[in-house]
Amino acid sequence: MWGGRFAAGPASIMREINASIPFDKRLWKQDIAGSKAHVAMLAKQGIVDGEDAQAITEGLNRIAAEYEADGVPVDLDLEDIHMVTESRLAQLIGPTAGRLHTARSRNDQVATDFRLWVRDAIDEVQAGLIGLQRALLARADENADAVMPGFTHLQSAQPVTLGHHLMAYYEMVRRDRSRFADARARADECPLGAAALAGTGFPIDRHATAAALGFAKPTDNSLDSVSDRDFALDYLMAATQASLHLSRLAEEFIIWASQPFGFVKLPDAYSTGSSIMPQKRNPDAAELVRGHAGRIMGCMNALCVTMKGLPLAYSKDMQDDKPPVFEAHDLLALSIAAMTGMIETVTFRTDRMRGLAESGFATATDLADWLVREGGIPFREAHHITGRAVAAAEAAGVPLDQLPIATLQGIDARIDDRVYAVLTVDASVASRMSHGGTAPMQVRARIAQAREELGS
Ligand code: ARG
Repeated sequence: MWGGRFAAGPASIMREINASIPFDKRLWKQDIAGSKAHVAMLAKQGIVDGEDAQAITEGLNRIAAEYEADGVPVDLDLEDIHMVTESRLAQLIGPTAGRLHTARSRNDQVATDFRLWVRDAIDEVQAGLIGLQRALLARADENADAVMPGFTHLQSAQPVTLGHHLMAYYEMVRRDRSRFADARARADECPLGAAALAGTGFPIDRHATAAALGFAKPTDNSLDSVSDRDFALDYLMAATQASLHLSRLAEEFIIWASQPFGFVKLPDAYSTGSSIMPQKRNPDAAELVRGHAGRIMGCMNALCVTMKGLPLAYSKDMQDDKPPVFEAHDLLALSIAAMTGMIETVTFRTDRMRGLAESGFATATDLADWLVREGGIPFREAHHITGRAVAAAEAAGVPLDQLPIATLQGIDARIDDRVYAVLTVDASVASRMSHGGTAPMQVRARIAQAREELGS
């Protein structure tokens, strides 16, 4: 393709290091779409004649059918998807194929293909995340009243509901989706026509190609168009954040599935056994989601480092932009699907959760709040009195709401038996009616609103 001024072909090692076809064949659909939009525009502008354009378009359609049926042939000599397709076009229609590359370079071509690919990848991720949100909503609704211990420092802190806990992840995923939507909006500019780096002297119509490919507009600077990959990094950064959320959810499942917790029974379909310990049921899918987050972050880091020192405009380093994006996308898609499946099918052991919420003195704050409200006692003093009540309950081996009134009054005479109404875990969660609080009424209201956000 570029052999005119070369006397010798490349060394075999050069062929190998130079070729991107083993991975960029994944861009074939976008590459064909870009070429068809380009040649249609060239014809409309009178840059190639109508018959040639038609031959090229028909050839491209035929190549697309071949790729669909047999895959893209990996020929290292032809370097990349752009050359593989162009050379096949030449086999099919002869020298007319050479007109396709008028007013274009592989630099703007690959930037266009890759943006199209990232845009599609975002749409796919969004669909997956919506599925995850729906699964979270369904299980949250089912468990809006199910009391569990809420934790800080992984110590029992205050009772919350399982529905509230699951809805926390709904909110995280909602923000993840908005990050992907932002990334998509910024990627929505078409680099095609920037040519190698400086634009072209041919009278092309960049608005036409941008519109044909479904972009909002053409990019506004040819150097920037061929040399930035921030759209790919936007994707990877959004993917990293999403994977961190998935990893935290996975981690909770791993802890909850452990015998000391026993909060969940993981579905058979997402667990594995041990080859030597028959009692084991291992949370492998959750562990791999947690592990994949590390790899996705690594992909983001790889592309950041590739890009950080590159002068304008294109350098071949940028060919390495694709593998980390492909890898991160595949890992993320799998992680979303696995977490969605687990959420849908996990058995929550709500009795066990309730039992632990009742045994950890988790309503101590409710006692302190009651002393403030009913006794007019400053919170710091109420905290101290409550501490003594917890110590007494611990010594007696009973939950707070089973301490005799005489014991409580021995600690502070201002306590009377109305206090028992706030010491149960149900009373505790029901009282937390502040916006965003764990009261089942609040949680249900948020679930209803979330259902509207998602549409039906
Ligand atoms: N395969 C190349 C890439 O992915 C296409 C662009 C090649 N451009 C060039 N000037 N060698 O980056």
